[in-house]
Amino acid sequence: MKRVRTAVFPVAGLGTRILPATKAMPKEMLTIVDRPLIQYAVEEALEAGVERFVFVTGRGKSALVDHFDIAYELETVMTSRGKSLDRLGGTRFQPGALVSVRQQEPLGLGHAVWCAREIVGDEPFAVLLPDDLMVGKPNCLAQMVEAYEKVGGNIVCAQDVPRERTQSYGIVTPGASDGPLTEVRGLVEKPQPEDAPSTLGVVGRYILQPEVMAILGRIGKGSGGEIQLTDGMAELIGTQPFHAFTFAGERHDCGDAGGFVVANLALALGRADLAPRVRAFLASRD
Ligand code: G1P
Repeated sequence: MKRVRTAVFPVAGLGTRILPATKAMPKEMLTIVDRPLIQYAVEEALEAGVERFVFVTGRGKSALVDHFDIAYELETVMTSRGKSLDRLGGTRFQPGALVSVRQQEPLGLGHAVWCAREIVGDEPFAVLLPDDLMVGKPNCLAQMVEAYEKVGGNIVCAQDVPRERTQSYGIVTPGASDGPLTEVRGLVEKPQPEDAPSTLGVVGRYILQPEVMAILGRIGKGSGGEIQLTDGMAELIGTQPFHAFTFAGERHDCGDAGGFVVANLALALGRADLAPRVRAFLASRD
């Protein structure tokens, strides 16, 4: 079985759910406590053993690639002032490990993933949606890689969602479950609550086989007039193993203001240097 060496980060989205913050800044640069969303996703992938990082970007997104560059000016000034470079929180890649490709038109998540096909090649790959911030130990993708090493095929991260929210998610038709793994019998993008086959929703982590790329290249537009990753994945069901993985940990949807604020609170409360101050503030507002 081939290892998951490559991760695709679809980061071309416009971030309309959290305007005006994202008018001139990529939503993936939104800061949770002291680092941007993209850094959490990249570090999750690094820890899970990923070696190639493919950013599918769009216009106005160059800050995302710059963030992982060496900041010579900062390093020089901080060193000359005797300040520790630890604060830079350097996620450093092997030279050439970060590749960026453009999605020239906003044609959907499936199209964004397809834009990475030449880099992904003929290997299984991960997809991480950075606005889904996953908190767990081991991290979410690492848990999925461990499961993948047992069952192979395709694995989507999934979570039970409120029925009235099914139209925000890809929804699974579940088969048999074995611990955190549930067989996927069907997938449908953003069904109305009354049409949803279950309340098991796909959240932003995937391990996929390269065969999905050819499918994404030929399928038409689906829900919302976009080329949907869900529709591409649905065609793999029955041809390859396909599981939903319920991850042990917390998910924060940081793509809207409420989720973003809660994520900041949750992560700050997990930090020994910040928790007392945040707790005291929350207590004063009770
Ligand atoms: C995308 C996917 C959807 C998935 C969701 C998870 O939707 O299309 O299947 O459930 O991410 O966050 P989006 O949130 O980009 O509309």
